[in-house]
Amino acid sequence: MTESALANLRVLLGVSGGIAAYKAAELTRRLRDAGADVRVVLTENAARFVTPLTFQALSGQAVRTSLWDEAAEAAMGHIELARWAQRIVIAPASADVIARLAHGRADDLLTTLCLASAAPLAIAPAMNQQMWAHAATQANLDLLRTRGVDVLGPASGSQACGDVGAGRLLEADAIVAELATRHGPKLLDGARVLVSAGPTYEDIDPVRFIGNRSSGRMGFAVAQAAAEQGAQVHLIAGPAHLPTPAGVTRCDVRSAREMHAAIMQQIPQCDIFISAAAVGDYRPGEVAAHKLKKTGATLRLVLTENPDILAEVAAHKTRPGKPDIFLVGFAAETQNLETGARAKLERKKLDLIVANRVGDGAGFDATDNELLLLWPGGKEHLPRADKLALARSLLVRIAGLRAQPAGRRSKR
Ligand code: PMT
Repeated sequence: MTESALANLRVLLGVSGGIAAYKAAELTRRLRDAGADVRVVLTENAARFVTPLTFQALSGQAVRTSLWDEAAEAAMGHIELARWAQRIVIAPASADVIARLAHGRADDLLTTLCLASAAPLAIAPAMNQQMWAHAATQANLDLLRTRGVDVLGPASGSQACGDVGAGRLLEADAIVAELATRHGPKLLDGARVLVSAGPTYEDIDPVRFIGNRSSGRMGFAVAQAAAEQGAQVHLIAGPAHLPTPAGVTRCDVRSAREMHAAIMQQIPQCDIFISAAAVGDYRPGEVAAHKLKKTGATLRLVLTENPDILAEVAAHKTRPGKPDIFLVGFAAETQNLETGARAKLERKKLDLIVANRVGDGAGFDATDNELLLLWPGGKEHLPRADKLALARSLLVRIAGLRAQPAGRRSKR
C-alpha cells in the first residue's frame, strides 16, 4: 500500500457540518502530500465550523459552498466540477449528509455533485455514538454500501460531546491510506475466495429453531474487502438480513448441513476459504413434522453433532497439481482468547485464525469488533474498529501470508 497510488488523482473533498470538520483541513494537506489534486466543497453547515479560506489556502484552489454562486457557475460550474472529479471523498460525513445521499437528494452543492458525478464515492462518517448506532443511520449506510459507496471508519473512542463509542472521524493518515489501498495494486487479483458468514438455524419443529447471535456483519465485511482486492468472491450466508456487497456472488442457506453442502460444492474451485460463519455445533436429532404442543411435562431435546465444516475442508486442503487452499478460521471465545484460538489453529491445521471475544455485547451483532490474528509463528492485534475496516486489514494480512512460503511466514 503506497500513498503515491494517489499521485495526480483528482479528488473532490466534501466537508459536511460537524465538529470534526476542522480535521478535514489536515486531510486536505495529507491528500496533497500524497500527490492528489484536491478541490474542496463545504456544506453551509460545515462553513459554520471552518472557513472556506482555510481550505483555499491548503488546497491552493477556490473553495465552493453553494450551488447558487453566480461567479463560480460562470467559471467552473458544478457539472464541470462533477466531471473533473476522479474520486469524491466526504469527510466528515454527518448523519444528515448520509441520509440525504441514501435518498438521492440534491438539495445543496455537495449532494448535487455526488449525483452528477460518475466518480466513486467514499464517506468517512463522524457523529455522536448514539446517532451512529441508530437504525436509520445504519440502514442508510447499508443502502449506500450496496451502491458501491466506501464507508471509511468510523473509529471508536471519546467524543467531543463527552460520550465514548463509535463515531469518531478516522485520522487523516488512515483515510489517505484507505484511499490509497483502493487505487493501489489489487492484492488478490483473480484469486477465488469463498467466505462463509452469519448464523445457522437448526429446526426443532415448523415454528422453532436453535440459532445463535451472529448477524453476518463480520463475514459480509470480509467478502466486501476481498472483492475490493480484486478477488472473485463467493459468499455462503446463513440467515442474515444484510445486502450483498457489490461484486460478490451470494448463496443463502439455513442449517449447518445446508452450509456444509454449499461449501463442499464450492471448495474445489476456491483458492482461499474464510470461515466467518457461526456454525451450529448441534441440531435436534429429529425435526417434528408439526408444532410441538405443551404437555405440562419437561421437554427434552436430543441433539446430534453437526459436521465440522472447516475441519473437513482442512482435510482436503492439499490438491494434486494445485496450490493448497489457504484456510482462515475464526474463533469466537468468551475466555482465554489466545490460547483457545491457537489450539483451534493447530487442531484444524489452518493458515490463519481470527480470534474475537464474544458475549456481553462484543463480537456478535455489533458494528465494530477487535481481532487477534494468529498464524503459525506469528500474531497481529487489530484494535477495535468498524468491522469493514478490520476486514480490510485482515485481507491485507491474508494476501501477505499467502505470498510467503508456509515455512517463512513473518512474526510480529
Ligand atoms: O456475524 P457477526 O454478528 O458480525 O459476528 C461475527 C462473529 C462473532 C460470528 C465472527 O467474528 C466469528 O467469530 N465467527 C466464528 C464463530 C464460530 O463459530 O466460532 P467457533 O470458535 O465456534 O468455530 C471455529 C471455526 O470453525 C469457525 O471458523 C467456524 O466457522 C468453524 N466451524 C465451527 C463449527 C462447525 N460445525 N463448523 C465449522 O466450520
